[in-house]
Amino acid sequence: MQATQVTDNTWRLSANIHDILFEGMWPIPHGFSMNSYIVKGEKTAIIDGVCDWDGTPEVLFDQFDQMGVKADEIDYVIINHMEPDHSGWIKAFREIRPNFTIVTTAKAKVLLEAFYDNTNEVMVVKSGDTLDLGNGHVLAFAEIPNVHWPETMATFDTKTGTLFPCDAFGSFGAINESPYDDQLTQEQIDFYEYEATRYYANIVGAYSGPAKRAVVKTETLPFKIIAPGHGIVWRQNPQKIIEDYKRYAFYSKGPAKEEITVIWGSMYGNTQRGVDPVVEGIRSEGVKVNVHQVPDTHYSYILRDVWNSSGVVLGMPTYEYKMFSPMAVVLDELGRKKALNRQAFRFGSYGWSGGAQKELDEIMLRYKMEWDFLDPVEFLGAPSQEDLDLIYQRGKKLAVQVKEWVAADGCT
Ligand code: FEO
Repeated sequence: MQATQVTDNTWRLSANIHDILFEGMWPIPHGFSMNSYIVKGEKTAIIDGVCDWDGTPEVLFDQFDQMGVKADEIDYVIINHMEPDHSGWIKAFREIRPNFTIVTTAKAKVLLEAFYDNTNEVMVVKSGDTLDLGNGHVLAFAEIPNVHWPETMATFDTKTGTLFPCDAFGSFGAINESPYDDQLTQEQIDFYEYEATRYYANIVGAYSGPAKRAVVKTETLPFKIIAPGHGIVWRQNPQKIIEDYKRYAFYSKGPAKEEITVIWGSMYGNTQRGVDPVVEGIRSEGVKVNVHQVPDTHYSYILRDVWNSSGVVLGMPTYEYKMFSPMAVVLDELGRKKALNRQAFRFGSYGWSGGAQKELDEIMLRYKMEWDFLDPVEFLGAPSQEDLDLIYQRGKKLAVQVKEWVAADGCT
């Protein structure tokens, strides 16, 4: 990895990870970057960091050498967030630089001791506090609780207008030679936008209220550059990622885009026969449709598409008096992440009894999801032509409702 200059006296360092499940559960087929930043005044601070897996801290330390910065020149380690993808490197850093001051929030200080047996001096800061590095670089701190843990804060360099917001405004996706929006093609920006929506829905989505408040705080700052803990640095058009995050936070409670996501699973192909009719019904109204089969598709991708969709179709049979189990897993995750207030429709087969609807009602209630369902279409065994026609009509009706809802709300 190559350290690169962000702006005056400010550098981006980074390490990518691949071939793991992020947080032990989220696929990252295109990798994941963990960004760290060095700001040099008369004193030197490093902001954010990397995990401790497989020599990753050493990847960061190699970049000190590229910049001609010696580890023992670093005076302050600014910990915006204690999740180990940002703080894991601290123990390894202590091996090469025992004496430094950690700057973080009171809640993070407790975690610092719990995770890493901290022995370093800690400067506890809160919103409004500052740290003067000299040569005009005054760092200002703002707590942004629950973006994405309760102890999280953002750091702002008042001289360069660079905001270091940690998890906020980040994305999945490894980054190699070109970490800045002004270096990327539109195709590359689109790729990171896709990965940003998946990252948001998977990691930040459950905290969309705090994310909205963090965006409001950000907009009060005279920022010129947004330098997140993951993904690309926005220095040509930082407003783009601000506007994107506003939309992503808004999507939690809907409406989202004029899209419908169809999630289906089938034991012997009877429920599957309803998929084509419902998709055709939706498309007949010109509404974009995303289709995912469970359990084949990881819920990371389903969550991402449901997050962007104002409508959802569930096609699943009853299984052992309950819902087809892989669908229950997906719905549970959608509830945990607060994909709320969708227009919805369900269809599916049953055998010796029903039961899918009862469990669906329980999940909706448990997570207060408030999905507004059309009447379901359930059939004993295989669907009749009449059932399939009805499923087509329900898909069409759902698409009409989604269009009206999105139009009324002015959302895109
Ligand atoms: Fe990037 Fe909440 O850790």
